[in-house]
Amino acid sequence: MSQTFLLSSVALAALAATALPAWRRLELSRAKHPSLTGHSRMAKRVAAQLPGYSYDDQRFFDSDGAPGDVVARRRAGFEALSHLLRTRHALSIAATREARPALSDLQFTSSYRVPFQYSPHVREHLPVGAFVRAASGVTMQDLDGQDFYDLTGSYGVNLLGVDFYKECIAEGSRLAEPLGPVLGAYHPCVLENVQRLRAISGLDEVSFHMSGTEAVMQAVRLARYHTRRSHLVRFSGAYHGWWEDVQPGVGNPLPPHETYTLREMDERSLQVLRKRKDIACVLVNPLQALHPNAGAPGDSSLVDSSRRAGFDRVAYTEWLQALRRVCSERGIVLILDEIFVGFRLAPGGAQEYFGVQADMVTYGKTLGGGLPVGVVCGRAALMKRYREERPADICFARGTFNAHPYVMGAMNVFLKRMETPQVRALYDDLDERWNARARDLNDRLALAGVPVHVANLSSIWTVLYTSPARYNWLLQYYLRAQGLALSWVGSGRLIFSLNYSDADFEQVAQRFVAAARAMHQDGWWWHDAALTNKAIKRGILREMLAQRFGL
Ligand SMILES: Cc1ncc(COP(=O)(O)O)c(C=O)c1O
Repeated sequence: MSQTFLLSSVALAALAATALPAWRRLELSRAKHPSLTGHSRMAKRVAAQLPGYSYDDQRFFDSDGAPGDVVARRRAGFEALSHLLRTRHALSIAATREARPALSDLQFTSSYRVPFQYSPHVREHLPVGAFVRAASGVTMQDLDGQDFYDLTGSYGVNLLGVDFYKECIAEGSRLAEPLGPVLGAYHPCVLENVQRLRAISGLDEVSFHMSGTEAVMQAVRLARYHTRRSHLVRFSGAYHGWWEDVQPGVGNPLPPHETYTLREMDERSLQVLRKRKDIACVLVNPLQALHPNAGAPGDSSLVDSSRRAGFDRVAYTEWLQALRRVCSERGIVLILDEIFVGFRLAPGGAQEYFGVQADMVTYGKTLGGGLPVGVVCGRAALMKRYREERPADICFARGTFNAHPYVMGAMNVFLKRMETPQVRALYDDLDERWNARARDLNDRLALAGVPVHVANLSSIWTVLYTSPARYNWLLQYYLRAQGLALSWVGSGRLIFSLNYSDADFEQVAQRFVAAARAMHQDGWWWHDAALTNKAIKRGILREMLAQRFGL
């Protein structure tokens, strides 16, 4: 009897030992987003199989099966657009052509502006000048003297207008000049910067780095060091720089083994955090509130009209607060990556805006006053890079250019100006102002009868398309023809600086509608009743399989 009991106890224990890890794995896979953004390894495998091919001159215009008369309209529109852009921006385009063979980044960005099937034809006929010679107010000027309204926002750095940053840099340089580029020792303004950053972040300590990517690396490294746990949790689609561990999918030749990518705004992810013992930190990019679980909406992946976005402040606030609770219960370090949204949503950043206190916060971009920077703020216990009781067990992180006097000078001016009544006034009714502008543009687009509308998180916007279409990515060129400058991700992200006046915005809105109207008239949004986003995707898949297997 007792032998049987013993045997069954052993069997039960063995079962538990195998069943529990299996159950945890199941929980983990249930917390992954079903799309490829949630399955990094699968995404990499798919990407590795994707064949490169491009459309010929005919297919370029009728890839959605458009009839002859529509194709003729498209051709005429395309030729006119090509002629306009090539003649109006001839010098900028010539400089870009000259630089391209030797400038790797330029080769990459100019190839990935539009879906790859269309890219060679677009590069040849709709070249984009990558050079600008001057900027002021909310506009910039290319080598041909042509002005553009700046909707690029310099990757988010430009929050307060380019002139503001010119002043930060000039004034900051004057401040740093007596010392010059002496590194290692600190310029006295560092003391003020640290104090201000402590007040803004509500955290004890600060470390300075050279880029946002480095700040995130350091925050995660410290979280691992202090928790003695291996894994970092990030959420589907979120960008945290180009360091290996935060980019487990496409784009990274060496996928990390210590990163979990989970669904954002989902109870299943909280469940994983509650149960697993190997999680050091959770990294959140609040920009994802605009498009939870989706990657940065670039036009190179705009193969149909299924791009979705929409910001729900209440729901995202609840999500961050739930995350906060679970992280506190489980001793997991909550890192808010405010490199993009910090200072854009509120003077106290996303923490203030969403009412959540993180254990560590990363800042960058605009904080450098126009110069490159990354910053980590954190609780004292997490920021310490050594252990008194184990002097050789250190968490090393130093960089030659950290706390560079000129960067610290520009940051000093930025932080001081952030406290002035003029800058504070920009935050009064900030969301109301930008939401009203987005509504206004949407009303105009609806009135014009074009299948386009915008969604926004305050001054960060994205363009959405309301009827199935294969050519939405072309809108970026029609917008360019209207004097609106977008970054290389095209209509996926428009970033406004807060110095846009109502009159400036009126100009942008008029030009935006004119661009959409022109594209509509040129027939690019024609579609037959049978076309759906699903059908487009299916068609592309068939095309790829045929290419892949040489059918
Ligand atoms: C949220 C977030 N984290 C990190 C980074 C990386 O910053 P950097 O480009 O300065 O390395 C970015 C850059 O866009 C970002 O948006």
